[in-house]
Amino acid sequence: MKYSGLKGMEDILPPDIAIWQAVESAARDLFRRYGFQEIRVPILESTDIFIRGIGEATDIVEKEMYTFADKGSRSVTMRPEGTAPVVRCFVEKGLQTQPSPQKYFYTGPMFRYERPQKGRFRQFYQIGAEAFGVARPTMDAEMIIMLNNLLETIGMSDLNCELNSIGCAECRPVYRKALLDFFGDKLAEYCPDCQRRYETNPLRILDCKVERCAALRQGAPAVTDYLCEDCRTHFHELQSILDSFKVPYTLNPNLVRGLDYYTKTTFEVTSEHLGAQKAVAAGGRYDRLVEEFGGPETPAIGFAIGMERLVALLKEKKGIDVPAPKFFIATLGREADMEGFRITESLRRQGIWAEQGYGGSSLKSQLRRADRLGAEFALIIGENELKAGRVQWKNLKNKEQGEVAVSDVTSVFQDQTDPS
Ligand code: HAM
Repeated sequence: MKYSGLKGMEDILPPDIAIWQAVESAARDLFRRYGFQEIRVPILESTDIFIRGIGEATDIVEKEMYTFADKGSRSVTMRPEGTAPVVRCFVEKGLQTQPSPQKYFYTGPMFRYERPQKGRFRQFYQIGAEAFGVARPTMDAEMIIMLNNLLETIGMSDLNCELNSIGCAECRPVYRKALLDFFGDKLAEYCPDCQRRYETNPLRILDCKVERCAALRQGAPAVTDYLCEDCRTHFHELQSILDSFKVPYTLNPNLVRGLDYYTKTTFEVTSEHLGAQKAVAAGGRYDRLVEEFGGPETPAIGFAIGMERLVALLKEKKGIDVPAPKFFIATLGREADMEGFRITESLRRQGIWAEQGYGGSSLKSQLRRADRLGAEFALIIGENELKAGRVQWKNLKNKEQGEVAVSDVTSVFQDQTDPS
């Protein structure tokens, strides 16, 4: 019997994991400076949360959810995204009583039953951030700038930030009507999905990927021409903050997003190096969702980064910085092995990464392993060294070598050891 992983569900292994960890630790460090605290919500939630949050007529809810009945016959769903569960938690735990604004971030797997392809998986990881309690565009700017800072910190400064506003409960119906009038003329020529969207959510026709639909919708009314006074001012203020901080963005009136909860600002960070699945991160404002979940009126905004896509870009651009031990302790014979073990442990206690040869194989094969691990120094202990209380050392990078008393190992290499 041969087992294999499920389609669209990847194993994440060394050395790639080093890039994941670097991104996660840069995100933690940066989010802390912006006052975002970590939140961990369950992977499994009641199905209603996603139907209500993401919207019944969205691709995610209609086709992509991992939904099943648990042993108590309750319908549960493996979270396809993090915003709806965080809002569920916010309302359930009354987090609005905490000092405002309430800012949270999360990392973890999401599940969508999509057709797997490059950059699209059935289990994928997001780093997400959500901020509650501020309606002003300064919060929109803070989110976009924080995301931008993170991408820059990890060395991705050549991405595009696409920006749009899709209005609010006041102006959206007027825009919807204008779209229905426009699409209605040639409805029969659109793809079956778009014909369905015409009934359920005509805004989604704007980002249909079918070429014929893209051609047909040329000249469609732009949402930004239909914004009410409040939405228009909000959008302009946001742009002027981004301009004053020299944050590059492009306006994209077709950026309507695939989740129904958005109001006003939407944004997506894209890369041309990713093929069809070009969004690395995406988000927007969702000022009505907390109320829809039974909470008090609470404006909110957030984003989520797609880790697999970001890691793929980083790998292509910078390669992998494979972590390597500082020391490899090669030993010959049982007693030398014990001494080697003692030295290795003492180095580790000082915060230094040290590996040992376990004395079992020949010196040559132990040193081959040290090379393969990328160790910087080999310390060699045989019978003679043991008797003299000394070790041989070899710099595996520049091939320098010498001898040092066992008692001096840490002090001699102190300058060269970086206990990070
Ligand atoms: P989303 O656009 O559905 O938004 O997903 C955010 C990011 O997750 C995408 O830009 C993409 O990088 C990644 N992603 C989505 N689906 C897949 C997949 N099947 N395989 C690999 N990566 C994928 C949200 O999830 C919202 N919750 C974002 C948000 C937070 N809005 C407000 N707050």
